[in-house]
Order: sequence, then C-alpha cells, then structure tokens
Amino acid sequence: MTIMTKPETLAARARIDAPAINAPLTPKPALITVEQAKAMDVARLTDLFKTHVNPGQLHFMKLLGFHKIKIERAEGMHYVDQNGRKILDFFGGFGSLAFGHNHPKVLAARQKFQEEKRQEIAIAFMSQYATALAHNLAQCSPGDLDMVFLGSSGSEAMEAAVKVAERAAGPKRPKIVYAENSFHGKTKGVLAITDGQLYRADFKVADNTVRVPFGDINAIERAFRSDPEIGVIVLETIQGGGGIIQAPAEFWQKLRALCDQYGVLWVADEVQCGYGRSGRFYAFEHYGVVPDVTALAKSLGAGKAAVGAMIARREVYMKAYGTPKTAMIHAMATFGGIGEACVTAIEGLNVLYDEGLIDNSAVVGSYLLERLEAVKAKYPKIVKDVRGKGLMIGLEFHDFSQTLPLVLRPVVSVLDDKLKGSLSGFVGSLLLRDYNVLVAFTEYNRNVIRLEPPLICGREHVDQFVDALDDLLSRGIVSIVKDFVKSQMN
Ligand SMILES: Cc1ncc(COP(=O)(O)O)c(C=O)c1O
Repeated sequence: MTIMTKPETLAARARIDAPAINAPLTPKPALITVEQAKAMDVARLTDLFKTHVNPGQLHFMKLLGFHKIKIERAEGMHYVDQNGRKILDFFGGFGSLAFGHNHPKVLAARQKFQEEKRQEIAIAFMSQYATALAHNLAQCSPGDLDMVFLGSSGSEAMEAAVKVAERAAGPKRPKIVYAENSFHGKTKGVLAITDGQLYRADFKVADNTVRVPFGDINAIERAFRSDPEIGVIVLETIQGGGGIIQAPAEFWQKLRALCDQYGVLWVADEVQCGYGRSGRFYAFEHYGVVPDVTALAKSLGAGKAAVGAMIARREVYMKAYGTPKTAMIHAMATFGGIGEACVTAIEGLNVLYDEGLIDNSAVVGSYLLERLEAVKAKYPKIVKDVRGKGLMIGLEFHDFSQTLPLVLRPVVSVLDDKLKGSLSGFVGSLLLRDYNVLVAFTEYNRNVIRLEPPLICGREHVDQFVDALDDLLSRGIVSIVKDFVKSQMN
C-alpha cells in the first residue's frame, strides 16, 4: 500500500532537510577560527597547550627556554618567531625537512592540485597519484624493491614492513630480531621492537622478539643458529634515536649473507636515515646491499604532508598479500595514498634529484663533519665524539656529572633529572637563546646533539652553526652551566 504524504508534511520535511544556514539547530561551541589560531599570543598558546595537549611536555620546553617562542613563518633553512627573529634550523624535524621549510616548487604543486579540485581519497578507484608515487619509489629503490604500501607516518610504514615480513616468513618462523637502542615508532606493534623503556613504559608488547647489540654480527649469527623460529630481523641502517650510531662497514654484507643462509627476511628502517640524508637515497646503498623490505617517511612528505611508505621486494610482498584472498589483509588505510599528500611526495622526489640534494647532503655533510672534528680537537675535554654520514651527524659531549667543579654540584643537583650531567641540554638551550640556532637531542643518550639540517643546507649555514658552537664552548663548562642556570631563573 502506498501512503500518501500530506503536502504540509512534505513542506515540513523540506525545512528540516534544507541546509541550516540562517538558524542552525545545533549550537556552535566556542571554536577558535583559523585566523584566531594564527594570531594567538604566547600566553594563550601556553595555557591551551597545558590544558589540551601535553602539560608534561611543556615542562621540558620550559627547562630549555623553548616555551617563549611562537613560530610565525618558516622558509628554507629558517624559522621566524613572533619577534621576527630568524632561527637557523639544524634540527630539521629529526630529518623531516629535506627541502627546508615551504619549498616553492612543493607549494606550487600543492596549490595547483587544489585549484584543479582533484580527488583525495584513494579507496574506491585506482588513484593516479598514489600509483605514480609507488612507481617513483620503486624507481628510487635498488633490486626488486618494487611493491609499495603508502601510509601517513613512519610508525605506520614500519608496522606495514614488519607485517609483510612476518607473513612472508610464515607461521613457523614468528620470531623477530631487533637491536639495542633501536627506535621504530610508538604505535603498539612496533613498540615491541623499539628498545626504549621510556616509550615501552608498562605496555604489554608482543613477546615474539629477540634483542641483539646493534652492529654485532656474531650475536646475530648466534641467534639465527640457535633459534630456527627466527624469520625476520629489523634494523635502522643508522640508528637515529640511539644517538647517530653506525654499524661497522663490513657488517651489512655479512648480514645480507647470513639472512640468505638462514632464510631470514631483513627489514631496513630508513625512516630517518633514508631519503638522501646519508648522502645516498638509502643509507644501505653505501654498503652495496639490498634488504627484503624497507620503510621511508619524514622527508617523503616534503615538509608539507604526512607520508610514509613501506617498500618490499616483489617476491616477499606476493607471498604475503599476492592473491585476491590475501590482498586486503593489509591494504592501505583510509588516508593511505591520499591525493595531495602523494602529489607533494611526487614533486618532492623530483626536486630531490633535480636540485642535486642527495649529492649536496654528502658534500656539505663532509664539510660539517670536518669542521666539527676541528671543534673536537679544540675542546677535547668537552667534546667526546663526532660521527655520522651526510647530513645525519651526532656530536657527543663527555658526561660532566663527575667532573664538574665541586662548587657547582649543588647548583646542578637542583635541576631537573633530565638535565643532570647532560651538557647537550645546556648547549642546545644556549645555542637557541644566544645564537638563534636550533638543534635536536636524543632520549637514549642525553649527551648527544643530533644535527639533521635540511638537505638544502649550504656551507654558509654550516659555518654559522659551527662558529656559534665554537663561541659557546669557548666559555668553558663552568660558564655554560652558570649561564644555563641563570637562564632558568629569568
Ligand atoms: C628510525 C625511525 N623509525 C620510525 C620512526 C617513527 O616515525 P613517526 O614518528 O613518523 O611515526 C622514527 C621517528 O622518529 C624513526 O626515527
């Protein structure tokens, strides 16, 4: 039976369905607009950060004096703060800014994509952008590293890398080897192979893991020999969070041979050291070896988009997900391969090669290392080690907790635990306050400063940074500590 709807009922429905432009039924909460967000002052920003984001993190920003800064703009090698101060970026978002801030070609590609009203979501139909990015990544990758999964972070790329390897290794070989001091992300799966008590806290993580010292081929051989259930090994090619640690050069060839001998799949985490940062597209290319699976993120988004990628050897991928029945086990998530992010990444890869940024990383990185070696020679009691490859460099200070003059020990002892014995915190804080230079720290070793400037870095930027560091260190440890403690009181 058809129910006739009364004309007035239809009219009433039409009113309900009509866009609620004039008098919305749902009251709008007290929302901040985009323009208000941009104009927010430091006091309100601090208050809202404390209330809604991360009060504990604000504590650390305050310790280092970073809480007084609000960034208004960023361009090339620099941030510009609310007072127009230019800050030289040697932190580089832990290696996320190969092109520096707001590279004009990347901005233009994004703007054009928006103006053309292109589609974003890559689920229902094949996306020409996601497919082109996958093709480009395969072109940049050696051997048959040809199959690409796209996500939106390094953690997601590493989750995908571990999953594809675990499935290809098969259920009889479920164990995964990982390294001491590793960092592979904070999501629940890869937390099991991230070797930081801070990040693991008391979460229950998967226990099908075996931990070995980083770069110790004998320990790996012993593990492979004694445990036939090991099917996968996951290693950063250069440890970033661990404090810029490299394995001995001969390690990688031996690792490849051992993996082949025991049928273990090697996953190379290149999220931080990849994408040209070490002076080659992948850091493992320095050693003439190819892993079975790898992962990229950070600079892959060209400093404007969140993009991560897992790249697997075709054979490995096909074993894991190669049939219609298995294809959807780990297909891309909602935002995997999203249009504008892919276009950003495609433009980024083109710029990386067109502008010779991988070569620049190698050349300027060597110059930075050379200048830092001279600083180490000048201040042997302060600088313990300088190391790295390309523009991924670590500067390690001696732990001064036992060597500080007795008069200063009570002063330092009242400081936050994180800062005790850690010259890198003091140096980083004063480099920003007095020299307008930003550097990064590492949780695993508080005496290391991480230097990962954009790959557009020139010799003049290196000179500015190293001259600032030299000038600061010339004050001597006692003055550096006193200056830092004084800055805490302001
Ligand atoms: C080597 C490595 N793997 C994975 C990750 C996780 O990346 P994301 O922070 O984008 O999740 C990081 C992040 O620093 C990293 O350095």
